[in-house]
Amino acid sequence: MITTTGLTKVYRSRGRETAALDGVDLHVREGEVYGVVGRSGAGKSTLIRCVNLLERPTSGTVQVAGEDLTSLPGSALRAARSRIGMVFQHFNLLSSRTVQDNVELPLEILGVSGKERSRKALELLDLVGLSDKGKAYPAQLSGGQKQRVGIARALAGDPKVLLSDEATSALDPETTRSILQLLRDLNEQLGLTVLLITHEMDVVKAICDSAALMKDGRIVESGKVTDLLATPGSELAHELFPVGGRPSGEDSTVVDLTFHGEAATEPVISQLSRTYNIDISVLGAALETIAGRQVGRMRIELPGRFEDNVVPIGFLREKGLQVDVAPVGKPADSNNDSLVKEAVK
Ligand SMILES: Nc1ncnc2c1ncn2[C@@H]1O[C@H](COP(=O)(O)OP(=O)(O)OP(=O)(O)O)[C@@H](O)[C@H]1O
Ligand SMILES: [Mg+2]
Repeated sequence: MITTTGLTKVYRSRGRETAALDGVDLHVREGEVYGVVGRSGAGKSTLIRCVNLLERPTSGTVQVAGEDLTSLPGSALRAARSRIGMVFQHFNLLSSRTVQDNVELPLEILGVSGKERSRKALELLDLVGLSDKGKAYPAQLSGGQKQRVGIARALAGDPKVLLSDEATSALDPETTRSILQLLRDLNEQLGLTVLLITHEMDVVKAICDSAALMKDGRIVESGKVTDLLATPGSELAHELFPVGGRPSGEDSTVVDLTFHGEAATEPVISQLSRTYNIDISVLGAALETIAGRQVGRMRIELPGRFEDNVVPIGFLREKGLQVDVAPVGKPADSNNDSLVKEAVK
C-alpha cells in the first residue's frame, strides 16, 4: 500500500545541510498497522510528511496504492492526497468552527454538496463515538475527544491510508489506550492501512503488526513484530521486550532465550542444570502477548566463559529455544560479534 524507494530529504538552512532522510525503503502492506519508532531527530516526521508529499523529497519515489505520487502533477497530487488521511499530535482543529464543520472541511475543499457533507460528517462522528458533539466547539472537548474529531476529519475523503504522527503523545495513558483501540478498530472495520509514528514501545506492542526502527535518517530494522522478536540481536525486540539483568560474575556467559507459544522454559532450565551440573541464574524474564501470540523471554547466566558453554548452549537450541549469546558485561542485543554468533550456530 505504501512503498518508498531510496527516499532522501536534505534540509538546507543558513548554509548548513541536514540529511533528515538518507535512502529510506519503506514497505507497508495493505491493511496493516505499521509503527515507526526512533529517537528524536531520527527523521520520523520527515518520513511521514514525505509519504503524502507535504514535504517534497530531495530524491527517491513514494508510491501509495500503486500510484507514484512523486511523478503526479499538482491537481492529480491533490486528488491522491485527499485519499490519504493524516492525524496530528496537536489535533490541528479550527477553533472557530464546530466539531461537525471541522469534519466537513476536507469535503468542502473537495466541492462536496452541503447535504452530502453533513450526512458524511454525522456518519464519521458516529464512527468515532462523538455523535452528540457535532454542535460543540473544539475548546469544549477533552484532548481525547479532540483527537477523535481529528480522526473523523482524516477519514472524510474515504482514505485507504491513515498517517499518524504521535497522535497520542499529548494524551494521558487511559485516553491513549482508547484512541489506539479506535485506530485498531478502524483498521479492522474499514481495512484501513495505518502508518503511525510513536516514541512509545507500548503503542507498537498494543496495535502494530509491523514496525521499523529509524536512526539518523535510515531504517535500521523493520519487519513484522512477531518476526522481529524471533530475530537474534534485534534492537527493536529488546526495546519492545526488555528482560534487563546484568551478570553477577566476570567469568560468566549471558544468554537470552526467546520462546513462542506453548514452549515452556522452566523444565528446560532445570534439565540443563541437572544434565551439566551447573548453577544457572535467571537475570530477568517476561511473558507477553504480542499480536495475539504469546512470546516469552528470559535472560540467564551460565558459569564460565562462552567457550566452556558451547555444549549447554547447543542443548538449549536443540530444545527449540531461540538462543542469543552475549559477551560478558554486554547485553545480547548490543552484541555485534558475528564470530561468536557464527561459532554457536
Ligand atoms: N524544516 C526543517 N528545516 C531544517 N531541518 C529540519 C526541518 N525539519 C526537520 N529538520 C531536521 O531533520 C532531522 C529529522 O527531523 P524530524 O522532525 O523528521 O525528526 P523526528 O524523528 O520526527 O523527531 P521527533 O521525535 O523529535 O519528532 C532533524 O535533525 C531536524 O532538525
Ligand atoms: Mg517528529
